[in-house]
Amino acid sequence: MIYLDNAATTFPKPENVYKAMDTFHRTLGANPGRSGHRMAVAAEKEIEDTRSIVAKLFGIKDSRRLVLTFNATDAINMGIKGLLKPGDHAITTFLEHNAVSRALNGLEKRKMITVTKVRNSQEGFIDPDDIKNAITSKTRLIVVAHAPNVLGTIQPIQEIGRIAREKECIFMVDAAQTAGVCEIDVNEYFIDMLAFTGHKGPLGPTGTGGLYVGERLTLDPWREGGTGFEPASLSQPEELPFKLESGTPNTVGIAGLRAGIGYILSKGVSTIRTHEQNLTNKLIHAFRHDQRFVLYGTTDIIKKVGIISMIVKGFKPAEIGAILDQSFDIAVRPGLHCAPFAHQIMGTFPDGTVRISPGCFNTENDIDQLITALDTIANEKI
Ligand SMILES: Cc1ncc(COP(=O)(O)O)c(C=O)c1O
Repeated sequence: MIYLDNAATTFPKPENVYKAMDTFHRTLGANPGRSGHRMAVAAEKEIEDTRSIVAKLFGIKDSRRLVLTFNATDAINMGIKGLLKPGDHAITTFLEHNAVSRALNGLEKRKMITVTKVRNSQEGFIDPDDIKNAITSKTRLIVVAHAPNVLGTIQPIQEIGRIAREKECIFMVDAAQTAGVCEIDVNEYFIDMLAFTGHKGPLGPTGTGGLYVGERLTLDPWREGGTGFEPASLSQPEELPFKLESGTPNTVGIAGLRAGIGYILSKGVSTIRTHEQNLTNKLIHAFRHDQRFVLYGTTDIIKKVGIISMIVKGFKPAEIGAILDQSFDIAVRPGLHCAPFAHQIMGTFPDGTVRISPGCFNTENDIDQLITALDTIANEKI
């Protein structure tokens, strides 16, 4: 199988990720921070070492402000629902994943908050001035995906962050598609909350992720329970990360996440990005001027991550996905990609697009085979 669905989850993982998880499960699989014996202490150390390496990846100075979560959805909900209070206003975009759109929409439907969605350009970019113009005296939160998952277009988050800081709003970045493949520094980009998932760019397993909580905010926990200390107290501890990390963590996944990020740091984020850019650019060049295909969003590879959204004229995206899978042994993702508003704006609702997303283990040969396959399929309709 040629796997080109890395925006959904990266596959395969680096060998050291499999090894770290296997070793952890066989030798250190105790409940961290609970029992006090040596295995539990070693499991706790694995978590703290992971926290430190994630903090390093994102330029986070105090690793205690990095809360480990079960995925980006968990982190985004934790941030949005832990921050917003009745009467608040939030600003977001039409390009967001349902993790953001539904969390905000749910609060809006319960009449707790109001939400403004800012439109993007045809190329797939948000204009920071549009965000600025949407700010009101009630705006508490601005949430933007660093690179939305349908188009992969890298948004001007530093400019948006600067505006948020000037206007005293909290700025949340959904880095689900950029963590591990784009350089991110929470201080340089004025980010107050950074949500990421471990199973995509960070090359870790599913069930891992995190939320950076900046110094300008406090969050109410939406999950309360055991934290491994002060068991007699009925109240949730106030200190981070424990305040937001109740329940037994996914320790084996966290061990894998640490190994994935270790792999990325040893290769270099920019090396991985360049590789994915080269493969994506090859695809763009193959299809861009071919009338049988439509590509969505910018074709400027500097301004996007390794995601292409396209359609093959005469076919529904679901048909292309099925033909590639069954006749060519190639995995891509057809459909709405959990971002229905983006497709409404692009004019691709309700069928969506075919999303192709090369990862760090794909080769030029994989891309050549996909190009040949799509060329063969498209010719059938001529
Ligand atoms: C931009 C974006 N945000 C959030 C998510 C949710 O990630 P997860 O399913 O790992 O929680 C995704 C997943 O595809 C995504 O692409």
